[in-house]
Amino acid sequence: MGNKPFTVLCVTSYFKGHEFMKQCKKEGCRVVLLTSKSLENEEWPRESLDEIFYIPDKNKEWNMHDVIYGVSYIARRERLNRIVALDDFDVEKAAELREHLRIPGAGETTARYFRDKLAMRMKARECGIPVPAFVAILNYEEINEYLAENQPPYVLKPRLQASGIGIRKIASSADLWREVDSLGDQQSFYLLEQFKPGKVYHVDSIVHERGIRFAVASEYGETPMSVAHEGKVFSTRTMRRGTEREKALLELNARVLSELGLKEGVSHTEFIEGETPADFYFLETSMRVGGAHISDLIEQATGINLWREWAKIEVLRDEMTYEPPKAREDYAGLLVSLAKQEWPDMAAYNDPEVTWRLKKHHHAGLIVVSPSFERVESLMAEYVGRFRADFFASMPLPDKPAD
Ligand SMILES: Nc1ncnc2c1ncn2[C@@H]1O[C@H](COP(=O)(O)OP(=O)(O)O)[C@@H](O)[C@H]1O
Ligand SMILES: [Mg+2]
Repeated sequence: MGNKPFTVLCVTSYFKGHEFMKQCKKEGCRVVLLTSKSLENEEWPRESLDEIFYIPDKNKEWNMHDVIYGVSYIARRERLNRIVALDDFDVEKAAELREHLRIPGAGETTARYFRDKLAMRMKARECGIPVPAFVAILNYEEINEYLAENQPPYVLKPRLQASGIGIRKIASSADLWREVDSLGDQQSFYLLEQFKPGKVYHVDSIVHERGIRFAVASEYGETPMSVAHEGKVFSTRTMRRGTEREKALLELNARVLSELGLKEGVSHTEFIEGETPADFYFLETSMRVGGAHISDLIEQATGINLWREWAKIEVLRDEMTYEPPKAREDYAGLLVSLAKQEWPDMAAYNDPEVTWRLKKHHHAGLIVVSPSFERVESLMAEYVGRFRADFFASMPLPDKPAD
């Protein structure tokens, strides 16, 4: 390595990723941040950043011409060794930049499998991974064939969104064509698939040299769709270890990540339970840390911080090796709700198992931890009801993700 710095460009159009940037600095890297101009006044971890560059944005949307010119300009005097997208919406930008600057890491083909819901579905189906029957909103003859072969209800979903935004439940063919019509030129950015009524699960993993080095399976309380559309309290908890369901999920997760081609990094991958227990459909995957404080849930249960481990993997140089720290095997549950109070008082949630509290304007949230699965399960059941009564407020679903 000599005296040349190892430089990481962190790309994020949203305000996040502090632990990642701090860890890169700790690993001896030069850390350069590329973010949205509108986030200029946020409290970035400036002590860990060597340079910050801003891209003019419109609601955090960037023009890729600006980005390519901007980063190529930065590259005149910075030798960039890695480019890392910290948010889902930046994954394809980082891939395009890596391709343009010829920098190692996921290129456009791989990044697409982890970002575009149609691409991941097609690839999974090709590899024999179970997925709900689906069709692209593209060729009308194919859509009609699909409708004749598959019973409603369906879901119509944007290929490139997140957080349940833009997803609609569709009751009939007539319903579908009405929606498709109203989408106009946006149609091709959607896909249609069968609605599966089961519970939703997520597996959060660390991947190194194409192998899973760490993975935790968790079960959402209400489905993310009911949380987003019907205003339910968000909750999830880690699954009981060693059960058939947990083993089936971990296995399917490993297949998804290996077939879709994640070489290095982290992933948040989701599944829906089918008609029989332990029979799962692949819902979606990503090459980033899960949002909604899921990384805090995993850290409380296992002691492993996914952001920090991801940073260690990204900045590995030739002479370095990676081993994840030994994981604790506790169980944890996470609850988050919008709150009608500006700073909700959570003092009454004082069981000793409460190890983490959310400090965010108009939000209530906490994590409970215990070596006993039953204890976490019963606390969660009780707290979900109490959260509803004490704090709950709903807001209309935005058409763009919030920070
Ligand atoms: N085929 C489906 N059947 C039933 N529910 C679905 C289906 N696809 C999505 N959903 C619901 O919508 C939520 C969001 O969908 P998802 O594909 O995970 O997109 P994102 O989380 O990126 O918005 C899921 O967690 C689930 O609750
Ligand atoms: Mg999802």
